Amino acid sequence: MSLPFAEPYKIKMVESIHRSTLKERTQWIKDANYNLFNLLSNQVYIDLLTDSGTGAMSDKQWSAIMSGDESYAGSRSYTELKDAVADIFGMPFFLPTHQGRAAENVLFSALVKENDIVPGNAHFDTTKGHIEFRKAQAIDCTIAAAYDTHIDHPFKGNLDLEKLEQVITEHGAKNIPFIVVTITCNTAGGLPVSIENMKEVKQLAEKHNIPVLIDSARFAENAYFIKERESGYKDITIIEIIREMFSYADMMTISAKKDGIVNIGGFIGMKDEDVFKKSTVFNILFEGFITYGGMAGRDMAALAQGLYESTDYHYLESRIKQVAYLGSLLSDAGVPVQKPFGGHAIFLNALEFLPNIKREEYPAQTLAIELYKEAGIRGVEIGTIMADRDPVSRTNRYPNLELVRLAIPRRVYTNNHMNYIAAAAIRVWERKDEIKRGYEITEEAPIMRHFTVKLRPLS
Ligand code: F0G
Repeated sequence: MSLPFAEPYKIKMVESIHRSTLKERTQWIKDANYNLFNLLSNQVYIDLLTDSGTGAMSDKQWSAIMSGDESYAGSRSYTELKDAVADIFGMPFFLPTHQGRAAENVLFSALVKENDIVPGNAHFDTTKGHIEFRKAQAIDCTIAAAYDTHIDHPFKGNLDLEKLEQVITEHGAKNIPFIVVTITCNTAGGLPVSIENMKEVKQLAEKHNIPVLIDSARFAENAYFIKERESGYKDITIIEIIREMFSYADMMTISAKKDGIVNIGGFIGMKDEDVFKKSTVFNILFEGFITYGGMAGRDMAALAQGLYESTDYHYLESRIKQVAYLGSLLSDAGVPVQKPFGGHAIFLNALEFLPNIKREEYPAQTLAIELYKEAGIRGVEIGTIMADRDPVSRTNRYPNLELVRLAIPRRVYTNNHMNYIAAAAIRVWERKDEIKRGYEITEEAPIMRHFTVKLRPLS
């Protein structure tokens, strides 16, 4: 018998979390206007709202925090991070930012103008927000299989090359500042993009002289899936796979709060000095001087270390298999979950879970609230509320799927927590027929409404 996988770390520090009663949770979610973002963390037992900035840093990262260099200009920690970015991603030019959306803000200020078209696999909401804010348009070119939760495709994050070529022909390359490849594709369920697809996208982009941007938040998880699933990569190391992935890109933005395993941070990596020079102006304006951007020296030092830790195969294996463990517990009990399982989260298919709830009554939000009430677990709606209104018609945009994302923080919860989460979701599944009505919006912001939306239950 071969030995099973196990975490390549042990726990040095713990934080208490508290269970609550149904009565308390019913009141708290009402006080939060049925928006899970408004809950206080001590009202949540297991927090699966996001895997962003919620990971546990290692002893080596904490050591780096203590030895970080806080010089305004020319910090040693900046150089450490710059060297790590050049080494891992092959990006010689680099600007630190305070998180992923700040990297988008800076880079898009330099490159995106009104009426531009930015095709890609399903854009993350801040990416789309930064495109639409500049009165440009994001076009989703993800393969159709991504939107069928029952199709078992190894790389559902892939771009549909025909669709992409069609967009280029229709709108003209000169109106396309770059193509975005999001790895793993968060919006499509944390599912990976294959090396082959990245290569083909780059070839097509080169033919039309369009740069490729990798939105890289979960770059290491994407590399793990390539190693496990793509032919020819079994014996290639994770870091070598990462280097090949980024050889098919001209620039990258990253939220370092995911695979960087830090609580805050991000950066832009670039191969073209002109893009770097243009972006520098906006970085200084919005973020900070080029050698710290929006980050403290200690945070840059911890990130340089975290980027390398993320490329450890045994860490990635334990991480991705923990997510799959939760997915299997749910799936074996008949709970409708997106398949194959993604790298950072399990997605409940709310249209199948709560067929009684109409799209206009936000089934995924309804399900997220039920799961919170059931057991104090906080997930997040990835459905109509997050999809926002169409910027022109102002009507609700109904995405292909209504999902509840259960994002698993890195190195934080044990498999006992996974057992608890699965038991809670199965209990909601068993009483699904009693859930007959959803919610209506009473207040919302004009853009990115899901963070602050207020809701009222319908009866
Ligand atoms: N791109 C992707 C693919 C993301 O998943 C995120 C954030 C961002 C960009 C923006 O980065 O939050 O550092 O500004 N995703 C988080 C999530 C919020 O919960 O999935 P940020």
